[in-house]
Amino acid sequence: MKPQANENIPTLRGARQREYTDALTFEQELAQVFDKDWVMVGRQNSIPEPGNYLTAALGQRPIVCIRQKDGSIRAFANYCLHRYARLLDGRGKARRIVCPYHAWTYEITGQLIGITDPKGFGNACKSEMGLEELACEVWLGFIFVSLRRDLPSIASKLAPLAQHLARYDLSSYDDRYVFDEEIWAGNWKLVYENFIECYHVTYSHKQSIGPTNPTRLAELGPRSHQQFSVHYNPYRPEDLPEVHNDALDEDERRRLLVIGIYPNALIAIDANFVWWMMLEPQAVDRTNGRWGLSFTPHAMTKMKDPAAFAEKIREVIHTATIEDKQVVAAVQQGVRFGAAEPGFLHGTLEIYVDEFRQYLDRMLGRNEPTLAGKAKARR
Ligand code: FES
Ligand SMILES: [Fe+2]
Repeated sequence: MKPQANENIPTLRGARQREYTDALTFEQELAQVFDKDWVMVGRQNSIPEPGNYLTAALGQRPIVCIRQKDGSIRAFANYCLHRYARLLDGRGKARRIVCPYHAWTYEITGQLIGITDPKGFGNACKSEMGLEELACEVWLGFIFVSLRRDLPSIASKLAPLAQHLARYDLSSYDDRYVFDEEIWAGNWKLVYENFIECYHVTYSHKQSIGPTNPTRLAELGPRSHQQFSVHYNPYRPEDLPEVHNDALDEDERRRLLVIGIYPNALIAIDANFVWWMMLEPQAVDRTNGRWGLSFTPHAMTKMKDPAAFAEKIREVIHTATIEDKQVVAAVQQGVRFGAAEPGFLHGTLEIYVDEFRQYLDRMLGRNEPTLAGKAKARR
């Protein structure tokens, strides 16, 4: 089809290619974005008991979240105070934290309680020492952590989104699958941008959600929020899921909501499950996507065979992930050319890519507004 000019749609330009390959930009993003905002690291019900912990990365910083005896979750820098060995790995349960290197021991509260061969340290190491604690908050069952202790709470930042999601009751979900490692051969922004645009679904997801949730049905959600984006990929009428949560309205029954919470959280929600992924930039062209699937207790108690249902969803999402990984890798290869001219964004279906870039501009203190920002300023 010949491209047609449409006067009502703004011309949006994407990022320049080097923003996905430049080492300095990457370092600035870690320091100015990941170190300065709330970052999603996991789901609360995956660490239900005191001593249960999960490890993750805040940008590239190793962190650990541990369920405390009082039921709260606390987050700590995941390194030993002696010579910095990473303390915990993966997920599990610990009564105490013992460093793998020289066996210093910590309580799950982070307090240092044991130094091996203590005489060698004189008075330098005191028992009041403890692991560096990070800000930690649970929002709708998702755990957020921040290096900064002075930020407004994540609940206040995401209050409009919580309202939008109220009927799902996401904090009650069964956090059934967690995959700690899924490596993407692309810059973290490519993974993020791919997820928050609804343009590619039909064309990239031929074996998974493309036929059932086609691009032509896509709808935009609330606009211009500083911290998140929402769009919808509704199911075709013939593919509507079986719904067991009576609280959901008609739109919620037919929609797959696709949400980005800046900078690293990606969440897709339909009437029965939530698929979530947290991005951890490992290198300028390599990203870990820690992801999982959680299911509404309504579906898990009322479905005939909930285990088979959960497994079917896992397979579809796995296939969709392979498809997304292929296109992200293709873009990462394309941007190596280093062209100076930026590409184009679809004026509606890729509008959130532009909003995400405005968020990055704010965090990075970049003065040059995006074209959408300029157009807005002119109005
Ligand atoms: S690095 Fe942990 S005890 Fe030495
Ligand atoms: Fe996709």
